[in-house]
Formats: sequence, structure tokens, C-alpha cells
Amino acid sequence: MQKYNFEEIVSHLKNTGYVYQGSEIYGGLSNSWDFGILGAYLKKNIKDLWWKEFIEKSPYNVGIDSAILMNPRTWEASGHLKGFSDAMVDCKACKSRFRADQLIEDATGLSAEGKTCEEMDQMIKDHAITCPKCGKQEFTNSRPFNLMFKTFIGTLEDAKSTVYLRPETCQGIFVNFNNVLRTSRKKLPFGIGQIGKSFRNEITPGNFIFRVREFEQMELEFFTYPNDDERWFEYWVEKCLDFVKRMGIKEENIRLRPHAKEELSFYSKATSDIEYAFPFTDWGEVWGIADRTDYDLKRHMEYSGEKLVYRDPQTNEVFAPYCIEPSVGVERLFLMAVCDAYDKEVLENGEERVVMHLHPALAPVKACICPLVKKLSPQAKALYEDLINDFHCEFDEAGTVGKRYRRNDAIGTPYCITYDFDSLEDNCVTIRDRDTMEQTRVKISDVKDYLKEKLVF
Ligand code: GAP
Repeated sequence: MQKYNFEEIVSHLKNTGYVYQGSEIYGGLSNSWDFGILGAYLKKNIKDLWWKEFIEKSPYNVGIDSAILMNPRTWEASGHLKGFSDAMVDCKACKSRFRADQLIEDATGLSAEGKTCEEMDQMIKDHAITCPKCGKQEFTNSRPFNLMFKTFIGTLEDAKSTVYLRPETCQGIFVNFNNVLRTSRKKLPFGIGQIGKSFRNEITPGNFIFRVREFEQMELEFFTYPNDDERWFEYWVEKCLDFVKRMGIKEENIRLRPHAKEELSFYSKATSDIEYAFPFTDWGEVWGIADRTDYDLKRHMEYSGEKLVYRDPQTNEVFAPYCIEPSVGVERLFLMAVCDAYDKEVLENGEERVVMHLHPALAPVKACICPLVKKLSPQAKALYEDLINDFHCEFDEAGTVGKRYRRNDAIGTPYCITYDFDSLEDNCVTIRDRDTMEQTRVKISDVKDYLKEKLVF
């Protein structure tokens, strides 16, 4: 389905300043990435749009920003201390390490989701699976590996001072359930959302920023009456799909995959994933929407001794609400957006142009202001200085206008605005559209409105 190979897209992102290798001057740190001068904007735009659509514009939802380090009891209650692990196996011959379920899936096409270590060891034997690195068939037994990063607070490094970097942001929402009820006037149904960093010591990170150890999540915990969860589950699935489509992602590259019963997490009544046809796999998970029932609130009640309940104002009935959770990684939306936007075209003059067809609302640079020749720079700069009050713009006077267009196409700038000699007379500029390459003459006084209209999400 994808026209371009992944290496080509990754190399383009590195060359243009979207993503840098993490700690590069020290030889890097495996699977760590920094977002560069354009990537930081794309990430910010994605987060701003999510916050606007899921928090500000929703009549139901509010937002918080909770701490990364939490009381470790949180992770006992959530089940992460006991159960947040992947099974890993080592090749005895070459010492390579694999996630057991991935090894099985890659070799046989069978899913090992939900299987115990013993069951997976049996599958590895039954299918005579060999090491993908050295070809030998000698594996250790698989054993669980907890994915939470540990650290210590204070000066002592002992069990009492052990804390964890949160592996998901949602637990910060559940523990604040009472605080939000107390400080808002929310009635069911209502949601609490947040954006923040999560950390997982993934055994097999990879595929660039698809699976990383440090990433940002945007999670919404939407609380409902227990008998009303199914309706809201559908509602949020549609909202998330709509968001992805409005990002301009091609419909043939997206699908919704409801989880089969055997695949559901132990706390989930229903889960559907929005998946994207990434160039490195058939389909990869982007967004998970889960019906978590009253599991989390009840677990935190059990472990904290606090009542995390809702009193119905009509009936006075007291109960733990059900929770629908749409959860998405910023890096996954980022990667989906750039994979979908990347394109190459041969122009009439035989020249090739690389172009990123990013939705204007996502594009890092909204417009590039170009004087036709340097002599016109003062006038063009005055326009630029006015526009940067409202949009992230660039000013570019270097090279031919054609070269400036190519540079901006390659980074996804939707509009190039050229100030030419006629502009001195008619007070108009030429706005060139990145996707159609059509040029429109627009009054300087109308440029802001023109851009505002085009940037609507
Ligand atoms: N609170 C539920 C939860 O965290 P999850 O399916 O483990 O569920 C939700 O994660 C989303 O977070 C995923 O759909 C994905 O977008 C993102 N995500 C999870 N692990 C990731 C990783 N290692 N690197 C990048 N994104 C990740």
C-alpha cells in the first residue's frame, strides 16, 4: 500500500531537521531520538490539536497534568508491578535477546498474545523455531521482564526509596478522580485527559520512533454510568477515527481493528485499535480505545482505602463509574502523519520534487515569505514580521524562487508568499500552494485571513 520505503522516509526526516539521533555526539543511545527544529513543531501541533479537540472543545472533558513519579502503591494497584512484563528468551549460541511472542509470530505467523512463558516455550519447540540472528535452535526458557524503569528518591538507594517512571499517564488521572470531582462541577458522564511522558523499558524497541522507551501519551479517561459504557465506547472510537481522518490521512491506510476476546487485557471489556499501514509492517497500532469498566477505580480504592465513587444527584446511589479510555502516543501520530505525507513527483521540466503533503494545521512552518530579489527584502520582511504574530513563518531570501519552493515543499510548508516588483504598485503578493502548485494573487491586507481559513483543522 505504501509507495516509499521506510529508510527513505527516515533519512528525509533526519536530513531536514525533523528528528535527530539522541546523544549523537557520544555515539548515540540505542533507540533514543530527539525532535529537531521541525519535529518539535509537528509534535506541538499534534498535541495542541488533541488538547483542543478532546479537552477544550468537548462539553464533557477537563484536563490535568499529573506527576511522572508516583507513590509506588499506584503500580501495585494498577497491576504493573506484578504483571507489566514481556516474556523474553535468549539465544544460547549468539546471546541475542528476543521478545518470545515476537519470535513466535515472526517465525510462524501465529499469535502468542496472552500465552504463559511455558506455553510459549512449547510453541518455540513445536515449531522448531531458530534464532533469526545465527540460525541456531538453542533458546533459554522464556522469563518475564518488567518493563518499568526504576529509580530512587532521596539519598538512599534501597527498596523503601524505589520509585518508577510511569509507564502510562492514565494512573495519574485515576488517583485524582476525587480531586477533579471536588474542584469541578462535573456530573457523569465526564472525562479527564492529559498529555505527558511515559517510559517503558521495551525489550525490542525499534522501527525508528514507532516503539521507543520514552514517549508521550495523550490519554482520556471518560467516566460513565455502568450501564451506559457501550454507547460511549462507540462515541470515542468515532471521535478518534474522525481526528485521524481530519489529519488528512488517506483512508485506505487506516483501519479499525476490534480485539478478539482472547486478546483483551484482563481489565478490558472491549478494545478497538486504530491501525495504520506503516511501510515497515502490514498494520501497526496507533490508537487504542478500551472499555476499562470500573476496574481501575476499584483497585485504587482497595489499595488506598479511599472512596473513589460518584453519588448520583437524582437517586443518591453511590457507585464506581465505568471508564472508556482512548489512548494514543504522540510519536505514533507523528510517524503516521509523515509516512502518509511523504511523496515524490516529477515536474514538467523533468526535475524531481520531494513534497510532504502535511495538513496545514500540522505543518511546522505555515508560510515562507520570499522576496523575489534581495532588493525587495525590506518590504517582504515587513510582511513576515507582521505574520509571525499569528503564524509560525519563515523568511527566505537565499537562492532562486524555484529553489526556495523546493526547500519548502520538502519540509511540508503549505504556502510560499512571494513579494515581487508588482507588489510595490498593487500591494498584492503571490501565494503559491504546495500541493497544487497554483499561484494566487492576494492583497497584502488579506493575507492573514487567507492563511487563517486554510489552516482550519
Ligand atoms: N493506558 C493504556 C495504555 O497505555 P497501551 O496500548 O499500552 O495502553 C497506548 O498504549 C498507546 O501508547 C499505544 O496505542 C501507542 O500509541 C502508544 N505507545 C505504547 N507504547 C509505546 C512505545 N513503546 N513507543 C511509542 N508509543 C507507544
